[in-house]
Parts: sequence; C-alpha cells; structure tokens
Amino acid sequence: GRQWTSVSVLDSTLDGQTVLVRGRCHTVRGKGKLVFLVIRQAGYTIQCVFQIKDKVEDNMVSKGMIKYISSLSKESIVDVEGIVAVPDRPISGTTQQVELHGRKVYCVSKAVPVLPFNLEDAARSEKDFQKAAEQEDLQYVRVNTDTRLNFRVLDLRTPANQAIFRVQSYVSMLFRQFLVGQNFVEIHTPKLIAGASEGGAAVFKLDYKGQPACLAQSPQLHKQMAICADFGRVFEIGPVFRAEDSFTHRHLCEFTGLDLEMEIKEHYYEVLDILDGMFVSIFDGLNEHCKKELEAINEQYPFEPLKYLKKTLRLTFEEGLQLLKEDGIELDPFGDLNTESERRLGALVKNKYGTDFYILHRYPLAVRPFYTMPCYDNPQYSNSFDVFIRGEEIISGAQRVHDPELLVSRAQALGIDVASLSTYIDSFRWGAVPHGGVGVGLERVVMLFCNLKNIRKTSMFPRDPTRLAP
Ligand code: 4AD
Repeated sequence: GRQWTSVSVLDSTLDGQTVLVRGRCHTVRGKGKLVFLVIRQAGYTIQCVFQIKDKVEDNMVSKGMIKYISSLSKESIVDVEGIVAVPDRPISGTTQQVELHGRKVYCVSKAVPVLPFNLEDAARSEKDFQKAAEQEDLQYVRVNTDTRLNFRVLDLRTPANQAIFRVQSYVSMLFRQFLVGQNFVEIHTPKLIAGASEGGAAVFKLDYKGQPACLAQSPQLHKQMAICADFGRVFEIGPVFRAEDSFTHRHLCEFTGLDLEMEIKEHYYEVLDILDGMFVSIFDGLNEHCKKELEAINEQYPFEPLKYLKKTLRLTFEEGLQLLKEDGIELDPFGDLNTESERRLGALVKNKYGTDFYILHRYPLAVRPFYTMPCYDNPQYSNSFDVFIRGEEIISGAQRVHDPELLVSRAQALGIDVASLSTYIDSFRWGAVPHGGVGVGLERVVMLFCNLKNIRKTSMFPRDPTRLAP
C-alpha cells in the first residue's frame, strides 16, 4: 500500500516499495522522454525520475504530466508517489542514494517563479568556492549575510541551517533533561520588570501603563527570588533582552538564556560540578545523537570537532593571567579580560591542556555585577566564574550575596539605584540560603560548538542593533 515517508529515511531497504513523499521542488531537469525532479525535505534530497508512457502496459506518466512537472517552479510544495529503486550508478548531488520512479505528482502549493536568491547558492560550501577560485570556468554566486537574513525563511531551508536549529533544539532539550534529573524545577520569570537586572545602559526601556519599565536583561533577580521562596534548584529557558549598540559577531539584542540557580551548601564549586556534568552530557549527546546534523553543518561550514575533557578544566583567574604573562601579555590583576586576551588564553589553554572548553573562576570583584559574592578569604576576588568554548565566553556565573545589608552596600558602591531593587533586596530579609547560578547564551553555545563565527547563524530570526525584521 501507499505510505507517507520522510525523504531522510529513503534507502535501499525500501527497494521496490511504493511511497508517498511531500517535499519541495528543489530542481527540475527535462531530458527528452525523461524528467528528473529533485525533492527536498528538511535538508534531505531525493531524485524522482519520470518517464513518458509509450506503451499501454507501462506504469509511466503521460506526456502532459511530463510537461506539467517540467513547469513546476522551484520551492513549490509537491506530493510525489513513486517506487523506491536502487540506481545502477551512484547518484551525485542528492543526500539519498536511491531514486523514486515517479507515478504521480500533485502540486500542493506553488512558489513564485523568481526567488530572491538561489537555494543551491545559499547552500554552497567554502570548499566549493575554493574549487571555483582554482577553476576559472566555475563561477558561483555568494549570498551575503544581509540577503540571507532579509529572506530568512528561504535561507533557513538550506541543509546546514536545518541542521543548526535541530542542534539548537537538542542543546536545550539536553539542558532541561540534565537539570530535571538533578531535581531542578523549571520556572518562568517575568520579562517586563521595573529596573535593569544587570545594570548599565544596555536596557530596553518601555512604558508600562504609565510606569517606567524595561525588558528583562536576564532572569537574575527573579530566579534568585525563587530560591528565597524555597524552590532549592531552578532553571529557565527564555528570552533575554540587551539593548546592545555595537555590532559584533557574538552580541544580539535578544537571545535565549539558559539560566539556573541553586542552593549552595558549602562552596560555589557545587555550581561548577553541576555545569561540568551538564556540559559533558550536552556535548556527548550532540556527538552521539546529532551526527547527521553535525555532518550537514560541516559540509557547508567545515569545523574542527570540539575538544573537551570528561572532567572540565578549572583555572583560577590568577592562573589564567599567569599563562598570559608567560606568553608576554601582562594584564591588570584586578581588571577584566578583553575579547582578544580571552581568545589568546583559549589558545594557550588548548595547547597546554588539550581542551577547547574550560572554566575560569575567582574573578576580581571589581569586574563583576553587584550581586556577586566576594571571596571569603580575599574580598578583592569573588566567587564567580566564566566558561569558555574556543576562547569565547558562553557562560557567566557566581555565588550571590544573600545578606541584604551587604547587597545594599554593594549596589550603592556601584552607583546602582537601590530603590528600584527594593522588592528584590527585601526577599533576603526573611532568611535566605546561600546560593549561586549561571546564565548560558544558547546561540553562543551552538555557534562555538560548531565554530560558526557569527551568532546570526544560530539565531533563527536575529535581532541586532538595526534588525527588527523579519
Ligand atoms: O554574562 P551575562 O550578562 O550574565 C548574566 O546575565 C548573569 N545574570 C548570569 C548569571 O547567572 N550570573 O550573560 C550570560 C551569558 C553570556 O555568557 C553569554 O553567553 C550570553 O549570556 N550573552 C549574550 N548572548 C548573545 N548576545 C548578547 N548580547 C549576550 N550577552 C550575554
């Protein structure tokens, strides 16, 4: 009988079976009595061969049908019924190694005849461009980032983009799965809040029925308040808004935050232990369950697989500075690292310890937000950390101040308006357990795991300082 089938599963085990597939008309090529229609579905492609019926007993299609198929516009949605067949020679240019001997075609939805760009061009890899540079007769069109983003719905149809967002989905699934397994409760904190949760200028202000308000720069305050409300361990996957005004390869104005917050019994290392187990499980999970997706990404954007240790390397900030110093870079011991020194340190760490993923902890207090707990043994440092992939930050986290008086004085010391934080600070006046947590940037994790170089590639509809559409 007939059966609806995904293109991705069509292989020689289905030889001779009649299947029904729905996909996009990727390419159509006529050749006398034959027409080749490549159907694409979620990044996978299969060639369907249609042949004109010239004898009554043959199960082939009519001349009119051949004409109709030849006239289908690219990207139209078609249903094809056909018989799976193993071809004599290997097929090139499609992901599937079998073909369909087409019987019927039905166009479900027609695409306009002229597209803003060619999908095959958008899927072209760097290898193709290198080949084209060597062979003068080969000419490929490069689709630039703005064009891709302006017509993002089309751009998202390439195999690499299909794979990127499946990997992204997998990362949040693994994040959730791991934390639920560790007794964390998933929460949802408000995105409309009274004041800046991370301070500074990078905040979107708005009018909340006559009251000044802003879009949450993080779930920071409310996830801590959930701890004060005895939830013990909480996490959230949700939007984070930052009114960034500079264009960089790694900053968006809206991104997805993977946040967690947890009670600490004795030491902020308990948070690091959770992170350690969680990221090893995320990386292992991706490598094990997203092989096809990672290959598709690699095909267009070649990258070295991420190197990580089963027990994540932890270096103190001081040890990090020492490594840089040995390399001839001397930095302020109580200042922050800049993007360049982070990169450099990443390279040095990789050389020395063989990992692209590591934790840098015990940052100087002066470079951390007001809610960060100073180190008990030396208040110039703090119980805080950043986590890096390939020398770029994906996480920042810390133990928090849970003493309301210290919190007030820390906020004041940093010139923060304490009044706008009063309900948050009050939460600590009714008894609060020591706690800490982290914020992870989902788009950065995917960008850096696959070494994609631009965060716009891992945000489905990116928001940057000038882009608000689509
Ligand atoms: O370092 P951030 O600002 O830290 C916080 O929001 C704290 N509340 C986290 C905590 O629990 N202590 O942001 C956390 C992460 C960064 O490490 C980065 O991965 C990502 O969020 N991030 C951005 N991603 C994309 N675009 C931006 N503009 C980002 N800003 C931060």
